[in-house]
Amino acid sequence: MPYPYQIHSLEQYHEAYRKSVENPQAFWLDIASHFQWKKAPDSEVLQWNFKEPKVEWFKNAQLNITENCIDRHLEKNGDKVAFIWEPNNPNEESIQITYRELHQRVSLMANVLKNNDVKKGDRVIIYMGMVPELLIAVLACARIGAIHSVIFGGFSAKSIVDRINDTQASIVITQDAAYRGNKETPLKKIMDEALMAIDFIKKSIVLKHTGSPINMQIGRDVWWHDEIEKVKSFPACEVETMNAEDPLFILYTSGSTGKPKGVVHTCAGYMVFSTYSFVNVFQYQPNEIFFCTADIGWITGHTYTIYAPLCAGATVLMFEGTPTYPNAGRFWDIVEKHRVNILYTAPTAIRSLMSYGDEFLKGKDLSSLTKLGSVGEPINEDAWIWFHEKIGRKKCSIVDTWWQTETGACMISNLAGVTPEKPSYATLPLPGIQPVLMDEDGKIIEGSDAASFTLPKETIKGNLCIQFPWPSIIRTTYRDHERCRLTYFSTYKDLYFTGDGCFRDTEGNYRITGRVDDVLNVSGHRIGTAEVENAIDSSDIVIESAVVGYPHDIKGQGIYAFIILASHIQNPDLNAIEHHILNRVTENIGAIAKPDKIQFVSGLPKTRSGKIMRRILRKIAEGEVHQIGDTHSILNPEVLDEIMKGMK
Ligand code: PRX
Repeated sequence: MPYPYQIHSLEQYHEAYRKSVENPQAFWLDIASHFQWKKAPDSEVLQWNFKEPKVEWFKNAQLNITENCIDRHLEKNGDKVAFIWEPNNPNEESIQITYRELHQRVSLMANVLKNNDVKKGDRVIIYMGMVPELLIAVLACARIGAIHSVIFGGFSAKSIVDRINDTQASIVITQDAAYRGNKETPLKKIMDEALMAIDFIKKSIVLKHTGSPINMQIGRDVWWHDEIEKVKSFPACEVETMNAEDPLFILYTSGSTGKPKGVVHTCAGYMVFSTYSFVNVFQYQPNEIFFCTADIGWITGHTYTIYAPLCAGATVLMFEGTPTYPNAGRFWDIVEKHRVNILYTAPTAIRSLMSYGDEFLKGKDLSSLTKLGSVGEPINEDAWIWFHEKIGRKKCSIVDTWWQTETGACMISNLAGVTPEKPSYATLPLPGIQPVLMDEDGKIIEGSDAASFTLPKETIKGNLCIQFPWPSIIRTTYRDHERCRLTYFSTYKDLYFTGDGCFRDTEGNYRITGRVDDVLNVSGHRIGTAEVENAIDSSDIVIESAVVGYPHDIKGQGIYAFIILASHIQNPDLNAIEHHILNRVTENIGAIAKPDKIQFVSGLPKTRSGKIMRRILRKIAEGEVHQIGDTHSILNPEVLDEIMKGMK
């Protein structure tokens, strides 16, 4: 049996869940025993408190995750394809890389990093498109114990500057430009712009991918292929021995306040739980081809395009392009061409493809698909049904996986074909995950606590928290532990607060309804309203702005910005100003954060203490002007009429 910890029936699920609650240490120690260690975990399995917070799993153990992702498979499965790379342009050849080749290429790149003075614990910024070298760069960092921080290729130079400053990285890895659909993003140029504001980056390793002309700064910029040439005669790079709790990577994510924060995951716990979740949620079988459509710049790509499938010795498919290029049948072409068995994607992609009708499905052979997955936002019933009927041909299980950057891997999800599925419900917690729902007074809602093995008498609703640590829980926010405590562990005593609202039905299924804080989920991208407001307010023609989300058919949520312009602007050309504001947001964050609707207003509804009443703006943005509710506490009620009249 390839995965001794794979759950095969509902009974086994309940049994595993019970064990994980009754004796979490023994439960995870057993699962950890199926991985490769430099020094195996001992009886000190878990130390924790959610007060500081401090969580340590397998504290005394030592390992290297790439030994588990690569080396461990070489003897028996060296010739197995580790990953298939499908280029943006369908007329170009796809690439297949075996575990043996992956070993060679990661080892070479790891030697390149060492040869450029990168040491264990150093931070490496990676700003690349979805090319094979991205996956190789990530694993090369992990191999030598450097902490990678991948920046999504859609972020702007300013966003890069913030991340480089926060990580204090010494080196960046980038590429000339990236293809996505019919667009070419000049990554190197954007990185150059960012590096103008930073003086401590000594090296920039540049991959030649598109061949577009770029400037190479002598002394700082070196070509990936030249650097590889230099280390070709070096012996293979052995893995660095890492302590279980050494950081593996930092990934920035948006919250309700301030700049994005660097979520830190550590080596052992992340490896064990992410692999456990992959094998169980997707019920992965060793001959299957797994296609995760997420960009590696996000946590889904980290966990389910790189680490978990490779640790499980799987074959994973990595796609450079977009679902609609050259047309909306691209995913289906890829499924057909590579005989994909498991497709893991996002509701926004499903809704977008659904909007093209069935035309692009005609004649496509999707018969290889046996399992489908959804992640990133609530999946509405229409999208679920379309996915089930048209893509799954009513034969595939669908897993609706709820999790977050901070959780590292899937937390609440059905297990494909093993535990029941229910449209729009993520359903049951994975073994090891103990969710509870909290009411507004900070009390646990009766019947919401999975670990108590009691069910609610009717469907209940509350704020989703987790009351016990799981191995891949966030350890800290980089260089600012207090922010980690405040954001996740201070709202409710001794609980991790997810920021999500949630239902639990009488059968124990959880249904996530979305964020209850000021975080938006736009096309599955997490964006803080405060970040967008800061970007808008950075324009000197803006006095103040307020940004809220509203339901959007394709994106899930759209961004609605209410903006007060400076009074000195006479006869404003609103189109030009809108354009200017959109540019501001693109420059400060990236195009993904551009507001869909902008309304210029003369004032914003405020409380007597001067706080913007977002609740009311949200209702207006949602078009629910008749449900605005109590407006008594508004300091300036006169602005409401005006705002409602000018509603977009
Ligand atoms: O609101 C939840 C939503 O996405 C948020 C986490 O975003 P991020 O850290 O970018 O990670 C996304 C990929 C794991 C959550 O707080 N979310 C994620 N998955 C689901 C979901 N909402 C409902 N159902 C899901 N399956």
